[in-house]
Amino acid sequence: MSELQALLESLHQTYQQQDAGQLACYIPELCKADPNWFAISIVTTDGQTFQVGNCQQTFTIQSISKVFVYGMALADHGRDALLAKVGVEPTGDPFNSLIRLDEDSKRPDNPMINAGAIATTSLIQGNGPTERLNRLLEMFRRYVGHEVFIDMPVFMSERDTGHRNRAIAHLMLNFGMIDKNIDEALDLYFQQCSVLVNCHDLAVMAATLAHKGINPITQERAVESGYVKDILSVMYTCGMYDFAGEWAYKVGLPAKSGVSGGIMAVVPNRAGIAVFSPLLDEYGNSIRGSRVLELGIRVIQV
Ligand code: DON
Repeated sequence: MSELQALLESLHQTYQQQDAGQLACYIPELCKADPNWFAISIVTTDGQTFQVGNCQQTFTIQSISKVFVYGMALADHGRDALLAKVGVEPTGDPFNSLIRLDEDSKRPDNPMINAGAIATTSLIQGNGPTERLNRLLEMFRRYVGHEVFIDMPVFMSERDTGHRNRAIAHLMLNFGMIDKNIDEALDLYFQQCSVLVNCHDLAVMAATLAHKGINPITQERAVESGYVKDILSVMYTCGMYDFAGEWAYKVGLPAKSGVSGGIMAVVPNRAGIAVFSPLLDEYGNSIRGSRVLELGIRVIQV
């Protein structure tokens, strides 16, 4: 067994016993997750895989999708046009904050909080909702390396209960910051959050960002290399929400979390790391995931 594989197994054994945290029950379907699920995957930019735990267990990507949709909006509109609509300032506020629109520009502060993510999603190009969704799924396919599907019960659950996101979208509509049909934009946002992945898929996606936008397993380009820096920058400064500063200090890697329990981190030019475990802290970040990355990263020599 390689040293890295042995290390992952020891991290897994250590943190499996910790059962602090809460499931994301504000989306009722996510409350059905098994709190014991726990997986760690590493995919290197030369295509090697190291993994332990429930690596094949699928879960919805949730907010981690925001990273990839931001990349797609950059490709659709270019840096300057996108920056006019969505800023790149960390907020220090929770992901679902209602108030994060800049006083003057009325832009949401960044594309990782929900306001910025909904605005970003509303900019995805396509002739009607089906074409926009298909373009989005095709983009995810390139990162993951196989076709991806939407978890319909999670999508419906979030669509039925996502009143806070509807309020955020209405606020932005009021200020003229999103100009499409907001129900369509919200549906696409809920759909992107409901894309199913497993921990290995997530590590491949992170490794694709580490590998300048080329999937290291399929060798297919998922995003132009020129936009990878933009994506990693917002992950680094905003990806962990109101924990982003402490995260940068403790882990020092661009990362993104989602409320179903996934966290992915990018080691540029080296590897993608993903951890999945659905018990969350007060910031909405996986507790076992944060621990593995905070403490494990000091000893993981990818
Ligand atoms: O908008 C929401 O509430 C969810 N679909 C996504 C939130 C999320 O994953 C936040 N990340 N930790």
